[in-house]
Amino acid sequence: MSEWKHKTALITGASYGIGEAFARRLAADGTNLILTARSVDRLESLAEELRSRWNITVTVIASDLAQAADWQKLFDETEGRGQQVDLLVNNAGFGAVGDFADLPLDRQLEMIQVNVTALVALTHKFLQPMLNRKSGAIIQLASTAAFQGVPYFATYAATKSFILTFSEALWAECRPLDVRVLAVCPGPTGTHFQAVAGTERTKRPVKMQTPDEVVQASLNALAANRSVVVSGFGNAAMVFLERFFSRQTVTRLALNLYRPFSTRRQS
Ligand SMILES: NC(=O)c1ccc[n+]([C@@H]2O[C@H](COP(=O)([O-])OP(=O)(O)OC[C@H]3O[C@@H](n4cnc5c(N)ncnc54)[C@H](OP(=O)(O)O)[C@@H]3O)[C@@H](O)[C@H]2O)c1
Repeated sequence: MSEWKHKTALITGASYGIGEAFARRLAADGTNLILTARSVDRLESLAEELRSRWNITVTVIASDLAQAADWQKLFDETEGRGQQVDLLVNNAGFGAVGDFADLPLDRQLEMIQVNVTALVALTHKFLQPMLNRKSGAIIQLASTAAFQGVPYFATYAATKSFILTFSEALWAECRPLDVRVLAVCPGPTGTHFQAVAGTERTKRPVKMQTPDEVVQASLNALAANRSVVVSGFGNAAMVFLERFFSRQTVTRLALNLYRPFSTRRQS
């Protein structure tokens, strides 16, 4: 039996991709769900399907995580009303490929707001009651992009580096109080992410994991109370091998993978 049966999970970015896969998997395990994203119609139809199929409660809360007011709204409409959140999946996020100087600044600041600031705020809000109860867990979606600078994906990779080290630190802080924090590092995964980020304009290899594989790796690692998991053998091997090269060499390799076909810097 899943440890999350009859518990409640809040999943951000549950309307597509990895977040939706978390919702489907946890629902099948008997977990009650709180789903949030901007695409409310998609969330409502997913919620209806999961309720009738698995006999669980599913609550939908619309949020735009670029808006600070919505971070508080998520807390007020759940824990604030006595609805205990046992598992928080901070999954919502997006990237943008291109020359840093040419990508719109507003879009990159929005990325930091959604990927980092909202994640820190939600972690802070929902961690407090978990620590008081001495139970609960937080899954943070980082990336293999977290392990090095990624030219042409600079801001995105930096947001994921933040999530990785932030989560590792919290893992150690929270361990004595039986609250788990896990950083999940997927490599390329077949979701909407690629289209939103524009990664099809790069030479990045096309071998992708499925969202279900990422979710399985996450839940296994959480059960083992690991601080970090790199999803997929090939991705884990790549991250491991990076240790044997200088940071400059690794960054140059990343540059070759992520350079868009059309860029003004062809060096
Ligand atoms: N796919 C990959 O290759 C890959 C690799 C490594 C890490 N990741 C990470 O995995 C996580 C999930 O990505 P994915 O691959 O599942 O991408 P996806 O299919 O594009 O899904 C992204 C989710 O984030 C939500 N979101 C985006 N901006 C939001 C905002 N302002 N407010 C609220 N929700 C927002 C989207 O919902 P709405 O549009 O409905 O708001 C959507 O549900 C991200 O953190 C991503 O960085 C992905």
